[in-house]
Amino acid sequence: MPDPSLPVLITGGAGFIGSHLAERLLRAGARVRVLDNLDPFYDPELKRRNLAELAELGGGRFTWIEGDLRDAAACRTAVAGCGAVVHLAALAGVRPSIQDPVRYMDVNVTGTQMLLQQIDRREVVFVFGGSSSVYGGNTKVPFAESDNVDHPVSPYAASKKAGEVLCHAFHHLRGNPVVCLRFFTVYGPRQRPEMAIHQFARHITDGTPLPFFGDGGSRRDYTYVDDIVAGILLALAPPKGWAIYNLGGSATTSLAELVALLEQHLGRRAVLQRLPDQPGDVPITYADTGLAQRELGYRSAVPLAVGIERFCSWYSAQKRAGRVR
Ligand SMILES: NC(=O)c1ccc[n+]([C@@H]2O[C@H](COP(=O)([O-])OP(=O)(O)OC[C@H]3O[C@@H](n4cnc5c(N)ncnc54)[C@H](O)[C@@H]3O)[C@@H](O)[C@H]2O)c1
Repeated sequence: MPDPSLPVLITGGAGFIGSHLAERLLRAGARVRVLDNLDPFYDPELKRRNLAELAELGGGRFTWIEGDLRDAAACRTAVAGCGAVVHLAALAGVRPSIQDPVRYMDVNVTGTQMLLQQIDRREVVFVFGGSSSVYGGNTKVPFAESDNVDHPVSPYAASKKAGEVLCHAFHHLRGNPVVCLRFFTVYGPRQRPEMAIHQFARHITDGTPLPFFGDGGSRRDYTYVDDIVAGILLALAPPKGWAIYNLGGSATTSLAELVALLEQHLGRRAVLQRLPDQPGDVPITYADTGLAQRELGYRSAVPLAVGIERFCSWYSAQKRAGRVR
């Protein structure tokens, strides 16, 4: 942590990854400020619930500013007096970005620039929540930070690459320490409801058709959310000049293997609805985390089998309590 007496601002802190980071920081005794507009991309009630739990945990050490990243005044209020900013607010998801690319650029690109512009002290550490999607259709695996990322295959990926580029210009001009982290498919309790693992769990539990794209051979590097949070904390201390790191699980799992694992832990067979590959989807993601290991001390600690078991017990408990669809 840069200066433990100063609050950490988490943009998008009401969401999936942000709420886990906030929880971890509050448990460590830190002060946390969240800027989030409860965007309706998915049910804002889930985000309100996350915020209520954080408020209960953090008491006076937790503040939520309801505001939009694209609003200069909201960003100025949010960054004032912070020691570090972890920028996670964004419109996420590849497929919806193809339907509405302008909105994605507005939030993810203009919003990022708006936030950077309000940072008024050189000491403020900035961590950007980037994405493995910047590697596009890279066929060389595993993906390394030195690989070319000039060929994104969706507006979402392009917006995430643009975010990194804006961060670099900010670092160059203003001198603040900036770390861009490229997350590889993150999962765990509170995962966004439209993401594959969450959606698949819902279909398997309800016995409804599970959209199964392609031949099931596409492979993803899945990262348990606690590993991502650990990586973000490592990126906050000690402050770096400028760096980009992959945060992934460093293993790949096929779609078919993923479905089988979920079936095993949910105790039901999936009903598959076979569909062609989708535009914007990539055949494989696979993180080379060597650089993050060497320079940050990052190591993915939760294998997929363990993480999926944890996710399924969370999901089943939420379902019984009527807290997820
Ligand atoms: N989950 C993943 O697998 C994954 C992978 C790679 C990168 N990322 C990145 O990590 C970050 C967090 O992802 P997540 O899965 O937690 O998503 P999420 O949707 O749960 O969280 C994003 C939060 O940002 C908020 N937000 C959106 N637009 C905003 C705006 N204009 N102003 C203020 N707040 C706004 C939303 O309300 C939401 O709470 C995103 O930047 C995403 O691109 C996620």
